[in-house]
Amino acid sequence: MIQAVRGVHDILPSAAQKWARVEATARRVFEAYGYEEIRLPVFERTELFARGIGEATDIVQKEMYTFQDRAGESLTLRPEATASLLRAYIEHGLHVHPKPVRLYTMGPMFRYERPQAGRYRQFHQLNVEALGDDHPALDAEVIALLVDFFRGLDLATPLDVQINSLGDAKCRPAYRERLIEYLRRNSARLCAECRDRTERNPLRVLDCKNPECRPVLDAAPALELCPECATHFASVREYLKQMGVEATPTHRLVRGLDYYVRTTFELTATELGAQNAVAGGGRYDGLIELLGGPPDPGIGFAIGIERVVQLLPERGDDAREDRRPLAFLIPLGDEALRHLLPVARAVRSKAVRVELGYGERKLRSELERANKLGVAWAVIVGETELSRGEAVLRDMKSGTQQTVSLGALTDKLIALGAAR
Ligand code: HAM
Repeated sequence: MIQAVRGVHDILPSAAQKWARVEATARRVFEAYGYEEIRLPVFERTELFARGIGEATDIVQKEMYTFQDRAGESLTLRPEATASLLRAYIEHGLHVHPKPVRLYTMGPMFRYERPQAGRYRQFHQLNVEALGDDHPALDAEVIALLVDFFRGLDLATPLDVQINSLGDAKCRPAYRERLIEYLRRNSARLCAECRDRTERNPLRVLDCKNPECRPVLDAAPALELCPECATHFASVREYLKQMGVEATPTHRLVRGLDYYVRTTFELTATELGAQNAVAGGGRYDGLIELLGGPPDPGIGFAIGIERVVQLLPERGDDAREDRRPLAFLIPLGDEALRHLLPVARAVRSKAVRVELGYGERKLRSELERANKLGVAWAVIVGETELSRGEAVLRDMKSGTQQTVSLGALTDKLIALGAAR
């Protein structure tokens, strides 16, 4: 038997209902905030991600699915959607629209990570990006939108919003140097990964989960924002407060992609264990320009759908029972089948779910099947019924039967479907 590749997973019908609920909630909430959908390709030129996400990041260094196509071009399955979305924004001149340009997209992402609970090599994200404005009220609005999406799902479990400012090109470089110097001085008390990252991507060191590194990292110098970044961050927090959105400032929140400046944020659920981030995002002023576009700022986030689905409570309408067909149509013989085929088609065209037998089995076994399907009604048409131009309608719960003329059967079933 050929099995699925390690780190990828099937979404079976029993779970697909939850996925549909997450996606429908996303569309409803995002669109209420003025976001429009954009659909993007799943692979791009490798260079887009190398430049966009950052050469020094773990994603670009170790996690990309990169391959050469038959023409020898280096392509990569997208590890995230932001770089692709910005590429489309630039390529199609979307910046001429009133700003901020608000876009959302959803779909699979690919990262060659070590699979574990909540971490996959093909996973799915809901992505939101607001382009062309750097007002702190937009940052607050984007975070509120994220919180409102989760509200719309009625999760039982509490979620924490963490927020930070990573400064900008003015205040971050000096901090980076101070941090590198501190980490080098304490390298003996850090794990190999942290020592490697100190040179490559020092801010990421702060994110290390290894308990042995924590004492050094907890005592690391904190970023001092320049006055402009400090004012921006204070305003974001003020606006969040105005909206009643609680967010905890956490200066260890550094994120795994290089493009962030100023505001970054993450949503976590302790219930998820080690992979507890359900969503993350931030501002990336300068990235659009770096990718060859206008100097438009931007901010956005991505939600991990697998992790959201894991948090979703069961709901009545997820259960299979509520998606049961209304009726099982049982023709006994080919002549009866010919009569019931168009009936089934007409009923289904009104979005009423019915199933149809093919006339080759005995009534008894077809009634057993009706029971297994859990239908409310069985519709039986045998030779006798045919000769009378009738169908027998059997209430599967009570076992009582009534007859309906074949001519009225379609309307009767549609009416029963509507009354459900
Ligand atoms: P990210 O933090 O890399 O950000 O991913 C966002 C979310 O995707 C995570 O919080 C997590 O829920 C989910 N996720 C990431 N990797 C995996 C995985 N291997 N398996 C399952 N779920 C995963 C970004 O991707 C940025 N593009 C977000 C963004 C948009 N920033 C600005 N705009």
